[in-house]
Amino acid sequence: MTRKIIIDTDPGQDDAVAILTALASPEALDVIGIVAVAGNVSLAQNARNALKIVELAGRTDVPVYAGCERPMRRTLITAEYVHGDTGLDGPDLPPPVKTLEAQHGVDYLIEALMSHEPGTITLCTLGPLTNVAMAMVKEPRIIGRIKEIVMMGGAYFEVGNVTPAAEFNIYVDPDAADVVLRSGVHIVMAPLDVTHMMQSTPKRLKKLLEIGNKAGTAVYQMLSFSERFDLIKYGTEGAPLHDPCVIAYLLKPELFEGRHINVEIETTSELTVGMTVADYWGVTDRKRNVHYLRSGDADGFYDLLAERLARLP
Ligand code: RIB
Ligand code: CA
Repeated sequence: MTRKIIIDTDPGQDDAVAILTALASPEALDVIGIVAVAGNVSLAQNARNALKIVELAGRTDVPVYAGCERPMRRTLITAEYVHGDTGLDGPDLPPPVKTLEAQHGVDYLIEALMSHEPGTITLCTLGPLTNVAMAMVKEPRIIGRIKEIVMMGGAYFEVGNVTPAAEFNIYVDPDAADVVLRSGVHIVMAPLDVTHMMQSTPKRLKKLLEIGNKAGTAVYQMLSFSERFDLIKYGTEGAPLHDPCVIAYLLKPELFEGRHINVEIETTSELTVGMTVADYWGVTDRKRNVHYLRSGDADGFYDLLAERLARLP
């Protein structure tokens, strides 16, 4: 049964790998739209990158929208230090011919959810949750119509990557994350705890290059660029690979282990703002609102990526 998904994203090399993997799996995932959000780099650049990615995949049938250009309350912070000035440094992809849809991404999310049968659309979020939260605030009726949200974000055992306490997607817009996690929508969270197990070792990157097509080569160049920062920071053989965990979970959930727990967001303390406070051991009676992915099979994950990327041009 094909699952309808909307990908909300701030590409970002790892976002690009997630989007390519989804677009390479039409038998399982019907990508009905892609919405860009400010995060890794500016909204305009993220949206332009999303256009380049659908063209790289040969899937210009998929509409691309621009959403919010800043968080709900806080000032935007970006991550050119990881992703490069374009946000997609590494491959030399041609300027996109495809253009953005005119409709605002938040309005598209609302229209799509209100026009499709309730419970038929899954939101896959790969960046800050600004667009999804703003859509929920603007049209609360969409909340009961979302099948589930599968999100990359948060951290608990792995702790933060942008501050000692917070993961980047949550830290950029903690208020949006708070709105979404309190919404009551069924949420699957792929935190740093699991994404840090998916290390892009030289052997795994070489396998992607050896696919020999445009997509495999571009992904090799993307990850070879974006991994530099983390290799130096963590001193590991490979860098974590974050966003493709969202798509891999939808394609092969058996690759992952997790449990249903309470996760809440710190939104006020400047020391810990953006922290995902996960009651992993059930020491409170807080509502269990998240299926929290704690670990995953890294070899199976990379085998899946290689197999799907090989399907692309
Ligand atoms: O912390 C990792 C997340 O932040 C990923 O989504 C990456 O693309 C960046 O947006
Ligand atoms: Ca991202």
